[in-house]
Amino acid sequence: MNNLKVLGIETSCDETAASVVEKTGDKISVLSNVVSSQIEIHKKYGGVVPEVAAREHVLNILPVIEEASSKWQGAGGRPDIDAIAVTVGPGLITSLLAGVETAKTLSYAWGIPVTGVNHVEGHIAANFISRKQEAGGRNQAKNFPILILTVSGGHTMLVLMKDFGDYEMIGETRDDAAGEAFDKAAKLMGLGYPGGPAISALAEKNPNSKIQTPNSNIKLPRPMINSDNFDFSFSGLKTAIRYAIEKDPTPLKLRGASSEWQERISDYCHEFQQAVVDVLVHKTIKAAKKFDVKTVMLAGGVAANKELREQLASAVKEEGLDFKMPELKYTTDNAAMIAAAGAFKAEKKELTPWSELRVDCNLEL
Ligand code: KG4
Ligand code: ZN
Repeated sequence: MNNLKVLGIETSCDETAASVVEKTGDKISVLSNVVSSQIEIHKKYGGVVPEVAAREHVLNILPVIEEASSKWQGAGGRPDIDAIAVTVGPGLITSLLAGVETAKTLSYAWGIPVTGVNHVEGHIAANFISRKQEAGGRNQAKNFPILILTVSGGHTMLVLMKDFGDYEMIGETRDDAAGEAFDKAAKLMGLGYPGGPAISALAEKNPNSKIQTPNSNIKLPRPMINSDNFDFSFSGLKTAIRYAIEKDPTPLKLRGASSEWQERISDYCHEFQQAVVDVLVHKTIKAAKKFDVKTVMLAGGVAANKELREQLASAVKEEGLDFKMPELKYTTDNAAMIAAAGAFKAEKKELTPWSELRVDCNLEL
């Protein structure tokens, strides 16, 4: 197939998303990208409540698909697309089911083939979405193997991508994912959900937030930074920040809403963020050297982090390697990345009869 249009559907966590992408040769263009976020709903619970998420997906999924696909209507009320791609895992089972059952129904009703996509592979595929100004595609196969740092709320892994659909995991977190660490640290500082954007916004406001400048006396560990492997561990970091705050010299009566304490919290945010970034950058560069890759990519929700984007980009470039990362809107959960991954699969005819499509909440890459 030379020109493929794919409808992507994503409901693995708390975003209901649909998108149509078009793949022409190496170029992947996003024709529509609709994301209905449930963040405001889950915020008041301090995290995602699976039952609530599933109910919201069921309410939102059809309007979101309608909005994403209505411009590409073909004959007989069917959208003019070649395949439907849907996230089948990993994720929350009841959330995944909302997307998968909808995709199966549409595949049956429209007579359009469907393909199941691994959510993590979707995040990786976001790197292959063409930017507007680019004439051609990105990252031709000659760059393989590519090293990809995949960091989200559920995953932290270093993946060696040998081809589309061919991945070797060379390291992963042994406990909390990087995004989860941001979320948990934010919660204990009373910063709300999701924690990543909250922590990075406060860290930014810190006038010391340039790494070259030593910041306050707060010093958190860089877990496993020198370990003899490519694994990560972030749960200790969360415990370390908790103890550091408990033992902070600021008297209790000056904590809370006082401007001194708010400044102190932004110091904590800055140091926490830098600790995570240090470990991620250090291990990625070490892996890039060991596996002798020419290209490094960044993927997943934590790839929205400005400091991670900037510091990883400059470390990779210092090694003389090529660096790619998705546009911000394709870092956190979206369906364009699922449609992009689906387009690679559809091209290889990796399609599944709708009746055989299954969710797998522990699906591995
Ligand atoms: O990929 P994603 O949208 O969902 C999962 O697949 O998990 O990632 C969400 C995670 C959350 O943990 C969130 O706190 C984190 O990505 N995140 C960030 C930023 N934006 C989102 N972490 C650090 N800095 C950010 N700017
Ligand atoms: Zn995700």
